[in-house]
Amino acid sequence: MSIRNRRRAAVLGIMLFAGALAVAAAGASSSEKGADPVERGRYLVSILGCNDCHTPWKMGEKGPEPDMSRMLSGHPQDIKLKPAPEAKDGWAWTGSQTNTAYSGPWGVTYAINLTPDPLSGIGIWTEDMFVRAIRLGKHWGQSRPIMPPMPWQVYRNMTDEDLHAVWSYLRTIPPIENRAPDYDPPGAD
Ligand code: HEC
Repeated sequence: MSIRNRRRAAVLGIMLFAGALAVAAAGASSSEKGADPVERGRYLVSILGCNDCHTPWKMGEKGPEPDMSRMLSGHPQDIKLKPAPEAKDGWAWTGSQTNTAYSGPWGVTYAINLTPDPLSGIGIWTEDMFVRAIRLGKHWGQSRPIMPPMPWQVYRNMTDEDLHAVWSYLRTIPPIENRAPDYDPPGAD
């Protein structure tokens, strides 16, 4: 190869390398921005702990784990719990075996069905109801306060885009028919 040709080859190499960098940079920025709200929502739900409480837990080989065949379907309607043991000696609250029901000074709460099932899940909800529920901590976005341990006080700090992404993802998960029991205020029984 002549010196001239070598120079040409080197210049071409640098151009190709720069082009590859530009393509890599474009790829990285579009995935960082999370162009697809459903994928962004899937990621957020996987790190925000929604499955810790809204998916019933079962005993797995390595200990308790969320039963993903019932993903985000809330407290199982067929598990009727007796009143929780009295909290005393420094203990304040009790959680069910499935980690979907909680008894404490606030009464008894049951994690609701977040799947798009129309009657037992949030299928008939609007995005506005969902956003208001999380931002204002109000049941159905408008009525009684949402009780512990639902950490809406933390989730309310999500950006509009992230809340939209979580909602968008929840619309795509398999609908499961399961009507979680209603909230039981203290002294109701
Ligand atoms: C530590 C347990 C816990 C975690 C984590 C949790 N939730 Fe909840 N959530 C609950 C409980 C319990 C209720 C029912 C509260 C009640 O009846 O007042 C609830 C209720 C809700 C409601 C219904 C509000 C209404 O209108 O009554 C929505 C929507 C919701 N959660 C969404 C989510 C999402 C989305 C995530 C993850 C980003 C999440 N939750 C994580 C426990 C939890």
